[in-house]
Amino acid sequence: MKKILFNTPLQKKKYFDNVKKLLNSKKSLHGPGRNIFQIKKDLKKQYGFNHVHLTNSCTAAMEMCALMINLKKNDEVLMPSYNYNTTASSFVRTGCKVRYCDIDKKNLMPTFDHIKRNVNKKTKVIVIIHMQGLPVDYLGDLQNYCKSKKIILIEDAAPALGSYVKNKPAGSYGDFACFSFHETKNYQSGMGGLLVVNNKKFKRKSDLVFDKGTDRTLVVSDPNYHKKYYSWVEIGSCFRLPELNASFLQPQIKDIDGVIKYRSNLYKRYLKNFNGWLTDEFTICNKMTHKYKYNYHAFTIILKRREREKFLKYLKKNNIIAFISFEALHLSKIGKNFLTKKTKLENTDEIIKKIVRLPMHNQLTIKEVDFICKKVKEYFNS
Ligand SMILES: Cc1ncc(COP(=O)(O)O)c(C=O)c1O
Repeated sequence: MKKILFNTPLQKKKYFDNVKKLLNSKKSLHGPGRNIFQIKKDLKKQYGFNHVHLTNSCTAAMEMCALMINLKKNDEVLMPSYNYNTTASSFVRTGCKVRYCDIDKKNLMPTFDHIKRNVNKKTKVIVIIHMQGLPVDYLGDLQNYCKSKKIILIEDAAPALGSYVKNKPAGSYGDFACFSFHETKNYQSGMGGLLVVNNKKFKRKSDLVFDKGTDRTLVVSDPNYHKKYYSWVEIGSCFRLPELNASFLQPQIKDIDGVIKYRSNLYKRYLKNFNGWLTDEFTICNKMTHKYKYNYHAFTIILKRREREKFLKYLKKNNIIAFISFEALHLSKIGKNFLTKKTKLENTDEIIKKIVRLPMHNQLTIKEVDFICKKVKEYFNS
């Protein structure tokens, strides 16, 4: 059996052809051009996202949020410690504090109670992470809770495009939602991201922050705008996704349903192979017991014992590359600075060394999934 990779970026001939089309047209590689406009149109039609910016990463989208909200020194942003570091650093670099909350051991996301227990007068923002593309099922209640407390809700939906909670897509609950088109995600532009601005109050500001803090877009596109020349009007930066990268991504947006369908078959095969088997050794993070649409971004297991290194080494010896996902922020060199005496992260501490993600991508085959499951079973049987 050849090496089974953990991830292979989505690549089809028609995506490369679309890049060639742009290059041959000699049109602007910076944009915005046909591809960026088309992606925005498709996202609006498919998910109802009305005000969006295609950014050069999910990190860039989160940094835009932090710049727009403009917090003070003692203001707090609440988020789980089991999380990607730039979700925290985007805020920390503007001078405010982050506060960590714990997660549920089963789905690796905070319960509503974990969140509420950590909210205080200083809490100005809550960032909820859609772990491996799967949102928590209380998103609607969280949205109402944040509204009632005048707290800004941000969905870190990095890998979650195409997932739903109830009948609403991930990305439509927060004041803002940030997605990634990094090549480790289901749909990709090498690097890339998307900021969805749902809170009307921030729409105009987001246009300015996005465009290097200038009103260039308004000067160029709005004939009624009162200025002829653009100038520096907000603190912003260069957050844009180039049209060149967008040309690779644009045809993928039309393929989202097909990509998800393919992954769902792999995911269901994993579940079928592991069904009722050796629950003493590991649990499956998302057994699909809820009824909402999932984009099948990742297949994650949580080992019962602390033997991850040995397990990963065994898989590698059998040509299977698995992955550990990210480390908890409170254990990192920079992240530990935001621990307080009251921070309780018992669940995070217990399971952080037991999480393993098995291969999941659009070039993986059912035969390979069967092989992976066979090898995993052999490991725990020996
Ligand atoms: C939860 C989460 N947030 C943010 C990011 C950052 O995404 P990007 O690489 O597009 O900046 C990632 C990347 O994997 C992520 O998993």
